[in-house]
Amino acid sequence: MCGIIGYTGNNNATPILIEGLKRLEYRGYDSAGIAVKNDKVVVIKEKGRIDNLTRSVEKINPQGTLGIGHTRWATHGIPDKTNAHPHSSMNGIVTLVHNGIIENYIELKNDLIENSYEFTSHTDTEVIAQLFDYLYDGNPITSLIKTAKKLEGSYAVAMIIKDYDDKIFAMKKDSPLIIGKGDNENYLASDIPAILPYTNDCYIVNDGEFIELGKDNIKVFDENGNEKNIEIQKVQLHSDSAQKNGYDYFMQKEIFEQPKAVKDTILPLTPNGKITLPFEFPEKFIENLNRINIVACGSAFHVGVAGKYIIEEMTRIPVNVDIASEFRYRNPIIDKNDLCIFISQSGETADTLASLREAKKRGAFTLSVVNVPFSTIARESDGVIYTNAGTEIAVATTKAFSAQLSVIYVLSAFLSQKKGLMNETEIKKFTDEILSLPQKIQFALECDTITKNLAEIICQKQNVFFIGRGVDYPLCLEGALKLKEISYIHCEGYGAGELKHGTISLIEDGTVVVAVATDKKLYNKMVSNIKEVRSRGAFVIAVVCDDAENIKEFADEVIFVPKTIKHLSPSLTVIPLQLLAYHTTVRKGLDVDKPRNLAKSVTVE
Ligand code: F6R
Repeated sequence: MCGIIGYTGNNNATPILIEGLKRLEYRGYDSAGIAVKNDKVVVIKEKGRIDNLTRSVEKINPQGTLGIGHTRWATHGIPDKTNAHPHSSMNGIVTLVHNGIIENYIELKNDLIENSYEFTSHTDTEVIAQLFDYLYDGNPITSLIKTAKKLEGSYAVAMIIKDYDDKIFAMKKDSPLIIGKGDNENYLASDIPAILPYTNDCYIVNDGEFIELGKDNIKVFDENGNEKNIEIQKVQLHSDSAQKNGYDYFMQKEIFEQPKAVKDTILPLTPNGKITLPFEFPEKFIENLNRINIVACGSAFHVGVAGKYIIEEMTRIPVNVDIASEFRYRNPIIDKNDLCIFISQSGETADTLASLREAKKRGAFTLSVVNVPFSTIARESDGVIYTNAGTEIAVATTKAFSAQLSVIYVLSAFLSQKKGLMNETEIKKFTDEILSLPQKIQFALECDTITKNLAEIICQKQNVFFIGRGVDYPLCLEGALKLKEISYIHCEGYGAGELKHGTISLIEDGTVVVAVATDKKLYNKMVSNIKEVRSRGAFVIAVVCDDAENIKEFADEVIFVPKTIKHLSPSLTVIPLQLLAYHTTVRKGLDVDKPRNLAKSVTVE
């Protein structure tokens, strides 16, 4: 979703802003803009890709050592040039960019109109600019504090103020903002990759802090206007993962990086083959543990659903799984004997973050499974397990999903062992099997050719169904999401036994049904479900382990994945499902990495 970049120093800000915006592109956006200050502020904005903006910038060639830039993912007002950021206030006092949503913007806008303010856009952001202008008392920090007191919602705001030639001012609440410290120059961004080419020295801004960013000083103030001491930390991230390295798309590269992503995630959790978590539960916590709640959105939610099957069976602890946007408002029953697990690639998803805060308020122990280091969800949880999948650029998650699954396996085994349900030999066998996954995923990737061929059929369809039972069911939810979000083909993921309670009426001649059947105990039931759809004309693609018997008799096409123990099969079955989605989308000539309307990091609710 929206991205922010800011620069103050001795160099021309323009190329730094453009490069920063390019590095933020993966978050998803539909317009972009910059403001560069010299004697006056030059604002350039364009609808669509950064390339459009770059063309306009090249024509105007603004020079100045202070600037802010923004990629906008439209919420209030259509994606066009007028609604793109930066926005300037009517009297030209301030020009600003904003991530987040101002919930009381209509009320504020009406008050400002009564005070003769005129608006040019349909955005909630412009309200912040006009309000700041209205409240401006000559002191940027006190004016920012007054502005913040009137705002409801979430925001990370960076601004240039008329009388200040080399300073950016900023504030934040519930939307990430970081500062990068350089030599006689400083940076500001909504996430770390934007400034990584320039510095690793960062300050992660907290909610309720107000920033004065000069080229050689960083001042942070609290809500009362008192200056705070801050500590700069070194952020170690690889900035090279933003390259395609010979692959056609980031999604393709990330699918093929999964053996490494899983290996890098599980190795730190299994030193010398022993399961070791990077945090400690409070004393007697596991003894008294009543219930586990897993909360997440989208694909991360599907990991949670798989987690329910795996954790309940291995630990006999009841597991609830919730979509974060529901959990946060449904008054969940949670107390200090609950473990709440929040799964998030970005670590910034607004609903997941709000759910984490809700669970903390109710006294639960909060554990997050997060990919992006230093992200808000990671910082606010009692315990964190990082998935070391590396930067994920494609909007549709693949390698982070697989890394999250592997954390669930390790956590299940840890809890099972602590509860005395697995002895040392069983734990060793299970851990060895987890450690063999990277190699098995590598074998599973050999289905690249067959999935590419099948994409020729799927790309012509209007509907595709994914059916499975047990732990294959959440994988069907994931397979359906992956295919529909990037290829725009309507897909449904279904529990195979549930199909005849309504959905089977949609099966007609040639409808593609992907049937995932890895569980030996449920295999015959799956064969019956395959027969049911096939006798109604479905074209069935079966995804099975390589020891599945007679499957070729029942399915039109079969994709084999390596055999593993029951709970770990999701790591292998997900591979052909991701590749089916990828190849179908390429075949349809669509932008695999940036599907329409979607954003990588969903920082609004
Ligand atoms: C789908 C996808 C999304 C994310 C969801 C949660 O391919 O990527 O459904 O899984 O938006 O995002 P995170 O994991 O960043 O909280």
